[in-house]
Amino acid sequence: MACIAVFNQKGGVAKTTSTFNLATALARAGWKAWAVDMDAQAHLTLALTAGHPPLDPATTLCGFFNQQRPLRETVRETPLGVRLVPSHAELAKVESLYGSNAQATLALKRGLAEAEPDGPVLIDCCPALGVLSLNALYAADRVLIPVSSDYLSLQSVVRLDAAITALEKALKRPIEKRIVITRFDARRKLAQQVAQTLLDRYGEQVCKTRIRECVALAESPAVGKDIFAYQRKGVGAQDYGALAYELLRTGFFR
Ligand SMILES: Nc1ncnc2c1ncn2[C@@H]1O[C@H](COP(=O)(O)OP(=O)(O)OP(=O)(O)O)[C@@H](O)[C@H]1O
Ligand SMILES: [Mg+2]
Repeated sequence: MACIAVFNQKGGVAKTTSTFNLATALARAGWKAWAVDMDAQAHLTLALTAGHPPLDPATTLCGFFNQQRPLRETVRETPLGVRLVPSHAELAKVESLYGSNAQATLALKRGLAEAEPDGPVLIDCCPALGVLSLNALYAADRVLIPVSSDYLSLQSVVRLDAAITALEKALKRPIEKRIVITRFDARRKLAQQVAQTLLDRYGEQVCKTRIRECVALAESPAVGKDIFAYQRKGVGAQDYGALAYELLRTGFFR
């Protein structure tokens, strides 16, 4: 089953928003979707637990990294039907504890192999290429790269692409990539230019579906709802529904 790192080292490009709504779209379509929160900010955990994240770090990904707890013991069913491996603020310690230990980057890959997920795994990465994100990239066979429609975001995807190419050489295997344009506002010339540059450079790797700017996407996690429950007929639900369908249809989740 596919293991997908949702990654871009740039902050605020909609990694968490995309992981959240794609995982729930998959769950709604009857898949046993897993979501791994690899960010000490724990925003995905907050969204999927309706604002009631686990308080004891040992029951989260921290237990796995810092106390060698089996990953399967940290998985929990969430109200929206996604199996969540939650995060906690203490996950930030992993970077300082394992920063220079090359073997530590393989921990998640091993943990997932032992946990044997029964559905696609989406990993919400933090905005940095450190131990946690390397764990996600080593575990993943695919990377979904959200790129918001601005110049700096475009620059970050160029750097990330180079990093993934280097990683492919080190791993001696290809990593399938898809880029999804987020926070798209067709009225803005810059947004159109960024989209065109991505298409020229990455062609088929750019998802046909663009996620439009939509305030409901920012509001829905606060009330513990995905976009499909929060505003079923709005553009956010249309776009993430279409993106999930496009990725399913093109085999990205298999
Ligand atoms: N299409 C959209 N329209 C409007 N707001 C959005 C959209 N997508 C995301 N946002 C908002 O933008 C902010 C950043 O999104 P999000 O947290 O998903 O990004 P991120 O890449 O996970 O950030 P970080 O790098 O900090 O983890 C959030 O407040 C989110 O609600
Ligand atoms: Mg995030």
